[in-house]
Amino acid sequence: MTLVTTNPEEASAIIRSGGIVAFPTETVYGLGADVFNEEAVAKIFEAKERPQDNPLIAHVADLGQIEMLAKDIPAFAVMLIERFFPGPLTLVLNKRSEVPMLVTAGLDSVGVRMPRHELASEFIRACGTPVVAPSANLSGRPSPTTWQAVVEDLNGRIDCILQGEATEIGLESTVVDCTGEQPVILRQGSVSLEDLRAVVSETVKTAEGSEDERKSPGLRHKHYSPRASVRVVEMVDDMLADGAYIGIDAPDVQLVFTKVVSDAEAYAHELFEFFRECDRRGITTIYCQTVAEEGIGAALMDRIRRAAYG
Ligand code: TXA
Ligand code: MG
Repeated sequence: MTLVTTNPEEASAIIRSGGIVAFPTETVYGLGADVFNEEAVAKIFEAKERPQDNPLIAHVADLGQIEMLAKDIPAFAVMLIERFFPGPLTLVLNKRSEVPMLVTAGLDSVGVRMPRHELASEFIRACGTPVVAPSANLSGRPSPTTWQAVVEDLNGRIDCILQGEATEIGLESTVVDCTGEQPVILRQGSVSLEDLRAVVSETVKTAEGSEDERKSPGLRHKHYSPRASVRVVEMVDDMLADGAYIGIDAPDVQLVFTKVVSDAEAYAHELFEFFRECDRRGITTIYCQTVAEEGIGAALMDRIRRAAYG
């Protein structure tokens, strides 16, 4: 049985005794375990049916915990930490030998993130250890942005859900590789290329299909997808009436399910829950309107394209 609680102390006791707990963050819900407990970490892969070659992000409550996970942190990474932690940014750093290989899928690096979500921080602090956590969905499904979405995918497969509000941002964190000469964005998120360049001007984005992109194993796997087929549309004329639509402009045609959002932030906040709702309604085609690729729009279009083209 999966316990649902609003009490971070109660949830942290389950982590300390080797269990796995879903918890809210400002991006999406995560599925957590004690980073140093390999048996617990193995339960995450099992519950999610996650491929073992996809490394996990370790979540910390304070800067001191970063030292438990990473070493030889370059000066530019320290600058990014100072500016963006706590927040929706994951840094890939050289790992300490104490971090189990199961966490990092055999890599010498470890992803580290400090959520700014208050309940998440309280929970991680109470765990007394960094908490390793992928998104709390079944592998291949859209990341959960509500605790009910976690129930939908993982009820009975995990020990506990720490219940919070719907997540604020709705897309996963920006992932930046800091193991080379300069920061390299492996996964886009609400911390944009422009934001990163304002702190470290040398920051680059991986070209699709490049060597660097292959460094982020998660990007090799199919992601963020509803069961419905996703179509990317500029405007809204050639859509079929039995489809669903999400976008900033209201469509001219009547569809079975339409969500009009006010801006790119609201679009990001709604996207994954919209995908899930379409699946619940048995909708087979989803039309997603394009947005300008600036600010969170870049990450949003990245997720929409992955859902559409795999
Ligand atoms: O916002 C988020 O990042 C959420 C919340 C729960 O923190 N977590 C999340 O985890 O999205 P997950 O496991 O669904 O995605 C982690 C991504 C994957 O694409 C993975 O390949 C990449 O981060 N990653 C993790 N560790 C890495 C490493 N050492 N080197 C390269 N990529 C890494
Ligand atoms: Mg995920």
